[in-house]
Amino acid sequence: MTLLALETSCDETAAAVVRDGEVLASVVSSQIALHSEYGGVVPELATREHLRNLIPVTQSALREAGLRAADLHAIAATQGPGLPPALMIGLKTAQAMAFALDLPFIGIHHHEAHLYSPWIAGRPPRADFAAFAPNVSLIVSGGHTMLVHVEAELRHRVLGSTLDDAAGECFDKTAKLIGLPYPGGPLIDQLAAEGDPSAFKFPRPLLHDANDDFSFSGLKTAVRYFLRDHPAVVQDRRQLRDLCASIQAAIVDVLTGKTIQAARRLGVRCVTASGGVTCNRGLRQRLAAECERHSLTLRLADPGLCTDNAAMIGILAEHKLRHGHSPTSLDADPRPGWELAPT
Ligand code: KG4
Ligand code: ZN
Repeated sequence: MTLLALETSCDETAAAVVRDGEVLASVVSSQIALHSEYGGVVPELATREHLRNLIPVTQSALREAGLRAADLHAIAATQGPGLPPALMIGLKTAQAMAFALDLPFIGIHHHEAHLYSPWIAGRPPRADFAAFAPNVSLIVSGGHTMLVHVEAELRHRVLGSTLDDAAGECFDKTAKLIGLPYPGGPLIDQLAAEGDPSAFKFPRPLLHDANDDFSFSGLKTAVRYFLRDHPAVVQDRRQLRDLCASIQAAIVDVLTGKTIQAARRLGVRCVTASGGVTCNRGLRQRLAAECERHSLTLRLADPGLCTDNAAMIGILAEHKLRHGHSPTSLDADPRPGWELAPT
């Protein structure tokens, strides 16, 4: 089966071609530069960019795969959750293509696709479902932070999610307080690499709570008060690095601690992680160390597949169609607030 997938839920315009579990092409046009001047994603601008870029991005994915639209057997797109007008562009384009080519269309839940992105590996990237093991999956991005129990392929249950800010948002907002440009996560990662994570003490919200929820707005507030009381810290290169390392350590401690705690409680042998914050080197190293300590297998999404992409949408769509899932209606609407329901 050869399938084209589109993803436009936030600020990445992406198209991918997938055939029999292999990613033949994956093209992502990022809008980071466009939004950085505003310090965050502006939905209206994101939508205009998707409109401008989606067809060229789709054409380059097909070209990279060496295929034409007539070679496709199905079309997929992210149906939700995400920014309503942004979702509309990818979804309606995919449905129109499916109509014109007389092909089945399948609408995909963006977070469900993240759950399987750690299983896409190798060159060329392939879905390694043969290696699948029941797992606890951490999805951690600028918009979302959640823990999911993936009990079997295509069977999952959300364990907990953030009560306020997402972890990526916490990276970006604290970076902004420090005076770093948007998105600050990667910059904090860079500066933290040479800093002392124990230099300054910040709270680890909900780390020892029995539930699987997260909360990061208190940490952001703690950084705000810290900077009010110690404004000189950001002027000193060494102290700035220590500050970034200390903020990152607090976020990483919470993400790692809660993920391992859930995995041990549920008795799974495998942990996975995906989403933009999974690019963070501190988080990758810490998850690796803690999983090893607790004899858990760790599968981290490839850095190129951590941030939003259409390859993960295509891989999940193909897997679902193979497992007998029905196509989605060609006039189905976007689902901006779609909850990841238990399956
Ligand atoms: O998954 P993603 O591209 O977009 C969504 O939010 O859906 O994630 C973007 C987020 C941003 O908050 C960005 O700061 C964060 O991921 N991020 C990082 C790193 N790379 C990206 N945060 C910390 N360390 C990184 N290396
Ligand atoms: Zn995402």
